[in-house]
Amino acid sequence: MESTNVVAVILAAGQGTRMKSDRPKVLHEVAGRTLIGWSVRAAFEAGVDRCVVVVGHGRDQVEAALKNEFESDEFKSDMGARVQTAVQEEQRGTGHAVRCALPRIPEQGTVVITYGDCPLIPPSTLRALCESRRSRALALVTAQLDRPTGYGRILRGPGGEVRAIREEKDCSDAERAVREVNPGIYAMEAGFLREAIAELSPDNAQGELYLTDLVEIAARSGEVGVVDGNIEDLRGVNDPYELALCERRMRHRIVERLARSGVRIADPASVQIDADALVHPGAEIGFGVHIRGHSEIAAGARIDVGCVLENVVVESGARLLPYCVATDSTIGRDAQIGPFAHLRPATRVGERAKVGNFCETKKTHIGVASKVNHLAYVGDGHIGENVNVGAGVIFCNYDGYRKHKVELEDGVFVGSDSQLVAPVKVGRGAYIASGTTVTKDVPADALAIARVPQQHKEDYARMRREREKKGKMR
Ligand code: UD1
Ligand code: CA
Repeated sequence: MESTNVVAVILAAGQGTRMKSDRPKVLHEVAGRTLIGWSVRAAFEAGVDRCVVVVGHGRDQVEAALKNEFESDEFKSDMGARVQTAVQEEQRGTGHAVRCALPRIPEQGTVVITYGDCPLIPPSTLRALCESRRSRALALVTAQLDRPTGYGRILRGPGGEVRAIREEKDCSDAERAVREVNPGIYAMEAGFLREAIAELSPDNAQGELYLTDLVEIAARSGEVGVVDGNIEDLRGVNDPYELALCERRMRHRIVERLARSGVRIADPASVQIDADALVHPGAEIGFGVHIRGHSEIAAGARIDVGCVLENVVVESGARLLPYCVATDSTIGRDAQIGPFAHLRPATRVGERAKVGNFCETKKTHIGVASKVNHLAYVGDGHIGENVNVGAGVIFCNYDGYRKHKVELEDGVFVGSDSQLVAPVKVGRGAYIASGTTVTKDVPADALAIARVPQQHKEDYARMRREREKKGKMR
């Protein structure tokens, strides 16, 4: 692609009524990114210098989302210059939408036009389109469709040359039978676009300015470039079902890319990995695992069946046994989690530490080689190294008004079924007898025990058994 003056105009002003949602259509997500985000990225990946997004419905929300996505990470500081918006107040057709973007289109160069609701467009198709445009005023993508309903039809002349696009509502019966359709993606020479777009008129069945009429104008004075496209990659999203199909296709792409790079994925159809997650070659991902957001899974980490991770970092050698749910957390080297563990935000599991079955953790650091193995709740805690938290232990971190902290220093042993009423601190090497409710700080190396002394009522059980038996005989 030419190195200068390639601008993408991305149409995203429509309402998307069929989504039946308050959210602007282009802000619905596929594999963790917005539809418009995908379109903008595809354009950049193809090599455009700048994107102009035409906004209308939900304009403020769309602009905020663009700012949020493209003022971050790799697009940092470039957003204002590289992703711009143009406003189309009233949706009077695709031609009108591009007119609204004219002030941001250069005098010369290539203008790529795509939609904000077609997230699967391959950058390679956009590149081929620009290539095909080089020596021509206009190039477009076409695709073959068994059921072309709803699409503009490609009309070709006797020599097979593209002559025009006819919108379905304006088609004759013969034209309607054409199966070659217009997915709506074009590249045009900027000067041609500026002149030709002034000629458009709303003299058609919908009373709109049709961008598609530019094809006929270009064909009158020269050959139009054509790139063959696969309709499965070019379909727009119009309703929740199409969104779901698109999601499935995108996820398949992501999983395939990762598996081919060396990630061991048990079952590509059941695994879902968001576009922004990093999974390194040599990681193992089990059946039905979902990895969301900005998670990162190291080489040598193993995520077993059914785990759901969102913004979780898993270091090398760590193992998540089946059915763990974790959010905004980190899991250190060679740590072991689950099965059935729930790691809530800000859990930091240290190297070789363990969080076992039916445990819940939140905002807690668990030090190197410490264990929280069975049915425990640890929240707002700091657990040192080599600590053992027994079965059923609860950190009572909430007093009904505020959260408080539990601190267990290195080498502490907390016996089963104990409660630690925060704020409280247990000193290094101390031992909490099982069933103790700890309400005061425990000195290092001490034994803390707080439970009702055990009594025996001799023979009570036998006497009661006999009494009950007599009662029944009566
Ligand atoms: C358009 C094409 C049609 C093509 C179809 C592919 C025209 C006249 N027709 O159909 O040949 O087969 O796309 O999907 O171009 N938009 C705006 N402002 C507007 C109108 C539309 O921003 O005033 C945006 C929409 O948000 C959407 C895209 O343009 O993302 C396409 O609009 P839509 O109404 O779905 O397409 P059609 O005009 O029906
Ligand atoms: Ca329309």
